[in-house]
Amino acid sequence: MKNFLSIHDVEDLNNLITGGIIAKRNPFADQLLGKNKTIGLLFFNSSLRTRLSTQKAAQNLGLNVMMMNVGQDSWGLELEEGVVMNGDKAEHVKEAAAVIGRYCDIIAIRSFAELKDREKDYAEHIFQQFKKYSGRPVVNLESATRHPLQSLADCITIEEFRTKQRPKVVLTWLPHFKPLPQAVANSFCEWMNHMDVELVVTHPEGYDLAPEFVGKAQVIYDQKKALEGADFVYGKNWSSYQHYGQVLTQDYSWMIDEAKMALTDNGKFMHCLPVRRNMKVADEILDGHRSLVIDQAANREWSAQAVLKEILVGQLEE
Ligand code: CP
Repeated sequence: MKNFLSIHDVEDLNNLITGGIIAKRNPFADQLLGKNKTIGLLFFNSSLRTRLSTQKAAQNLGLNVMMMNVGQDSWGLELEEGVVMNGDKAEHVKEAAAVIGRYCDIIAIRSFAELKDREKDYAEHIFQQFKKYSGRPVVNLESATRHPLQSLADCITIEEFRTKQRPKVVLTWLPHFKPLPQAVANSFCEWMNHMDVELVVTHPEGYDLAPEFVGKAQVIYDQKKALEGADFVYGKNWSSYQHYGQVLTQDYSWMIDEAKMALTDNGKFMHCLPVRRNMKVADEILDGHRSLVIDQAANREWSAQAVLKEILVGQLEE
């Protein structure tokens, strides 16, 4: 594997899932793989799980880890080409990416959607520029459109907890008062489209995700109908894609509680975290036997380790 920006960089999904499960069983088997190599973790946005799990995974592989909150710890980065840099951005990404590429063997980046300009967000400029100017493999720690390390952890979790060959997986929109990106929902759909599952997406009208992410999923606007017989219920809020970045409704009747989960086939509840209790999901679900949210978060370490291992092995073969 050269870069890890989306599922399109994955050669064999089953192998990658198995790689995560093997890393979980024996975390230090590849301790020498990253010896004398360095990964740089660049955060343009906040994080708990991604930051700690990726650092831990890298250390399990023997990598040195350097971490930076871009714009807080470093100079503000200019991304536009050909601009007169007389504003608040002191450094251009062309130099910054090239310099970081000299210090690091792998560069991992988190940079969320700004939710102002859809075309700009969906072009993923920061990731493309780091790929172009750093000369190093780039790993997506959540971009404007995708969160592939989360999606891989979700695949590992479903693989561990499924009781049927082809489970029904429902992605449901949850209410929120703030506009949030579509990245987790997009990515979850994209990865589930490559798994042997029956995928259903449910949300209020106006919240349809981009068709390239929905893929072969069935879209049902009636949440209760969508939840019937589900084996896994994946909750997430996202703002509108069509009316880009807007909150069209905060309908709290979309919250997941036990009455909703009773419609499922003894379904499990999943969420990438962080989650706002009793607004998006009721305490009774998060504290009860249905919740897989901690298992998902724990699997972030193994998804990161599986991906970093494939990149390091790829570098050995170059
Ligand atoms: N799920 C997830 O990416 O969590 P953080 O935002 O805390 O990294």
